[in-house]
Amino acid sequence: MKFYIETIGCQMNVNDSEKMAEILSEYGCIQTNDILLADFVIVNTCSVRFSAEHKAYSLLGRLKEQKEINPNLIIGVTGCMAQYAAKEIKTRCKYVDFVLGAKDINSFSQTVTKYVPKETEVNENKQENREVFKYITIMRGCSNFCSYCIVPHVRGPEVSIDYNEIIKEVNKACDDGIKEIILLGQNVNSYNYSGVNFTQLLQKISQIDKVTRIRFMTNHPKDFSDELIEEIAINNKICKHIHLPLQSGSNNILKAMNRKYTYEQYKTLYEKIKNKIPDINITSDIIIGFPGETDQDFQDTFNASRQLQFGGLFIFKYSPRPKTFAAKLKGNVPLDIIKKRHVLLLEDSNIISKNINEKYINETVEVLVEKVNNGVAEARNSQNIKVFFDTKEKLTGEIVNVKITKVLPNSMSGILQR
Ligand code: 5AD
Ligand code: SF4
Repeated sequence: MKFYIETIGCQMNVNDSEKMAEILSEYGCIQTNDILLADFVIVNTCSVRFSAEHKAYSLLGRLKEQKEINPNLIIGVTGCMAQYAAKEIKTRCKYVDFVLGAKDINSFSQTVTKYVPKETEVNENKQENREVFKYITIMRGCSNFCSYCIVPHVRGPEVSIDYNEIIKEVNKACDDGIKEIILLGQNVNSYNYSGVNFTQLLQKISQIDKVTRIRFMTNHPKDFSDELIEEIAINNKICKHIHLPLQSGSNNILKAMNRKYTYEQYKTLYEKIKNKIPDINITSDIIIGFPGETDQDFQDTFNASRQLQFGGLFIFKYSPRPKTFAAKLKGNVPLDIIKKRHVLLLEDSNIISKNINEKYINETVEVLVEKVNNGVAEARNSQNIKVFFDTKEKLTGEIVNVKITKVLPNSMSGILQR
């Protein structure tokens, strides 16, 4: 049996998809990259923005046709949308075989037994596919209730995972040849399992000899401690990249978003991090068009982006989500204004990121090679910037030096140094 998994949304979903793929492989199924060849398709959904839900429904529409041609096709819907809109999915897409919410991912194995024929239940060797990094979920859910965000409503309250389990998973990943561990949570800074906080968890993981590189995401400025800044500064296994979502540069909007910090507090934290860790790359998220966002509020965000000089900025158009507090707010910003503000900020932030990357020109950077395709290697430096270079060697999983010759806003390229 061949299976295909479409992952929409965040790294949490990527991680859950990996877990589902592992289970299906244990059942003797083989993963395919061609959806048309699959007998079992899983759509792992996201509900953080309307566009993500739209993407899932479009794919499900195409799968309806595929099922008409191949009536044996099994279609499963998992993830956040499956969690809160199971009824709607089942009504709109009657041909879907099962809907399994994000919180029920642990029962995926049980669900599979209903669809995968018993005789294929053999433990096949997994395909020889060298993975370089591994996502490890350290906490589930979120208790922050940012007023625009559906996550706490769908994934439930924040729960930290037992560090003993995390350490076990890290050890296993390293034994499988993994070079980079990426710790995941909606707000890893508030990790706490029986008194062990996030900094202490990082210390425990970095003490494992086999661990080469550690990344983590995502952060919340209200919980980013001095102790953590110190640890990142001194611990050379921790990559020098922090994704620190700002969301808005306007204090009025930040308050309405329930972010629990002011722009000034964010800026103080940002500068503290930059001073303590000079080679750090800080990236961020911004939402444009939150209800009531005035020209002045947008200007504040634009100015913040100029003042802070992020290494990379993800800019999202506000999307009202069911169940959220913000969905009930008045002051809807017209779409044409949102689009204009989006373009203005995007163009400016791209220039900023490119300028920041310019400092790497003629510099030699250390990168971990993630894959080599048709003679082009795709790698990443500690600062999480993608680096491309030509090579004929099989370098996947190796740490090499590259002299940078060209930079773009979100990536750079160079020449392998030997
Ligand atoms: N509309 C637009 N962007 C959103 N995000 C979260 N919820 C929404 C929404 N309703 C963005 C935030 C968050 C990122 C993962 O997605 O910027 O940091
Ligand atoms: Fe959503 Fe805020 Fe939680 Fe992030 S911290 S998942 S934006 S509620």
